[in-house]
Amino acid sequence: MNKISSQKMSHVAIIMDGNGRWAEQKKSPRSEGHKKGLDNILPIVQHLIEYKVKYITLFAFSTENNKRPYDEKKHLVKLLDEALNNISEKINEDNINLSFIGDLTNLPKKTISKINQLNKINNNDQSNKLIIAWNYSGRSDIVNALNNIKNKDKITEKKLESHLMTNKIPDPDLIIRTGNQIRLSNFMLWQAAYSELYFSQKLWPDFNKNDLNKALKEFEKRRRNYGSI
Ligand code: IPE
Ligand code: IPE
Ligand code: MG
Repeated sequence: MNKISSQKMSHVAIIMDGNGRWAEQKKSPRSEGHKKGLDNILPIVQHLIEYKVKYITLFAFSTENNKRPYDEKKHLVKLLDEALNNISEKINEDNINLSFIGDLTNLPKKTISKINQLNKINNNDQSNKLIIAWNYSGRSDIVNALNNIKNKDKITEKKLESHLMTNKIPDPDLIIRTGNQIRLSNFMLWQAAYSELYFSQKLWPDFNKNDLNKALKEFEKRRRNYGSI
């Protein structure tokens, strides 16, 4: 399925939820679910690229996820680090430019330096943009943007948007959440104003290309009015 959507679909964002419950079902530790979840990323991203989606954002770790036990957080950082080690070949093959949104300051220095190195690859207008939301909070993004505006006399939507971490990224056309929870969990609160929302019952490690196709088909059927008729 690689036709260009009849609807504009330049940005698909995914809230990858359900790793822990996947592991629970298998009577495995949560870490196993996160590992399976990581393995599921590449095929889904490649399918979206085939579908000509230029911007793909993956919600991998929320600011609120810092409330989780130390060992789980440590494991997630380890998985992120491993993924960064293994991704450079794929980035080249699929002409991907990788970037992050969120507060990365608490990551190990070597991880941050890998992120910065990888960001330099394919950093041009033609590349496919893969954006990882890590230690991301939609509310913090808005508050930080407001604090970073120098001239606060007349704040416009455009001015605020230019200070968001997503300033170079179009708003998501479609936000998919897996894992059978019907909420945004502080993801892209400003940017989601007119996003189409799709909720899948599948847990993220089980969410496959067929499930993605269902979401894309459903999106095709949506009538996007933006308040008009
Ligand atoms: C999503 O899966 C991954 C992260 C939030 C890091 P969860 O870990 O939230 O999985 P569930 O919701 O507990 O099943
Ligand atoms: C949302 O999932 C965050 C990510 C998928 C990274 P959570 O599992 O953290 O969301 P809540 O806590 O159920 O709202
Ligand atoms: Mg969850």
